[in-house]
Amino acid sequence: MSLDITSLVKKYDTPLYLYDFNNITKRYEELKDAFSGKKSLVAYAVKSNSNLAVIRHLANLGAGADCVSIGEVRRALKAGVKKYHIIFSGVGKRDSEIREALKEDILLINLESEAEMKRVEMIAAELGKEARISIRVNPNVDPKTHPYISTGLHENKFGVSIDTAKRMYIYAKKSDHLNPVGIHFHIGSQLTELSPITEACGIVADLVRSLDAIGIEIKFFDIGGGLGVIYDDEKTIVPADYAKAIISQIKGLDITIVSEPGRYMMANSGIFLTSVLYEKQNGDKRFVIVDGAMNDLLRPSLYNAYHKIEAVQKEGQKTPADVVGPVCESGDFLGKNVELPPLDHHDILVVHSAGAYGFTMSSNYNTRGRAAEVAILDGKDYLIRARETFEDQVRLEESCDTSWQV
Ligand SMILES: Cc1ncc(COP(=O)(O)O)c(C=O)c1O
Repeated sequence: MSLDITSLVKKYDTPLYLYDFNNITKRYEELKDAFSGKKSLVAYAVKSNSNLAVIRHLANLGAGADCVSIGEVRRALKAGVKKYHIIFSGVGKRDSEIREALKEDILLINLESEAEMKRVEMIAAELGKEARISIRVNPNVDPKTHPYISTGLHENKFGVSIDTAKRMYIYAKKSDHLNPVGIHFHIGSQLTELSPITEACGIVADLVRSLDAIGIEIKFFDIGGGLGVIYDDEKTIVPADYAKAIISQIKGLDITIVSEPGRYMMANSGIFLTSVLYEKQNGDKRFVIVDGAMNDLLRPSLYNAYHKIEAVQKEGQKTPADVVGPVCESGDFLGKNVELPPLDHHDILVVHSAGAYGFTMSSNYNTRGRAAEVAILDGKDYLIRARETFEDQVRLEESCDTSWQV
């Protein structure tokens, strides 16, 4: 996006998240088009950026929602996602969450264990309903990504083995309160190689065929999310190749392909803006201290994730600096050894590729208010989340029982 960042910062202050809604549209359409000719649903992974305006924008384009808590399901419904486009996943759903999802009659509840299946069956029976379910299969395929975002190996907590899944499908088929219509897998995030996806699809498609042979007809083939993006110089997967690889594995199956992209939609549709507070030199080490921190953008501290950082309208000899926030942790950094020109108080830094797993992982650590969020659509800016105030943060404490005080 070509933006007048200085004016936007004057208007909204920093730290600030900015999202390019036209880019979100482009990403959605690229993926949807890649699956054209097949029945498909793009169910946006709400966890990557759950701002209501983002979800609403995608819902208006026809997207569904992949949710991992009842809170995310409520967000999706509030933002106008159609009930029959909502999927509820996650390894640990509470009874109250299952009950609400069943009452809302969403498309699918995604099961991650036999114990969970029994719970869903019991709650559906209580409500006199039949739960449409899918089962998350863990295909034991190495996704070749960061271990924290790898999910498709047996050592990861997600899903069940092929044998367990088969047993669960047979059980569900016989149940009066379970309707097994979907199958799901998600091997990891930030995938940049096609072969693990192809392999996982092949394994899961074979399971679908063997279920079909015993009269269990799967209608939704949910391939999860995971499409990687460019943070630095990664070679990524083109949606057309992604779709082609998946379609090649499901030959002969009359099935709706569901994808759950999060990062692919949002990472490069967003930037994070932060202002320079001070520069300092500790021995040989140059530090640029900014007003954004790990509580705003956790990925560098959590995964050592790389985000390109640039100064806005600033010239001069570049030297390496660690860009750090005010939080009292040595792990509070946005970038290490970033080549930057000399900087002054109030200069602005752009942290790129921050639209996914940025704001949603933010916290109030050090009693810092969460950043504001702004959408840019057709060249116009719209505040889509106000900056969090101190009063917002203490509201739930102040409204509590204070009689313990003498
Ligand atoms: C089940 C599931 N679907 C979709 C996603 C979204 O992944 P990504 O943002 O890499 O597309 C995740 C991410 O953790 C996930 O666990």
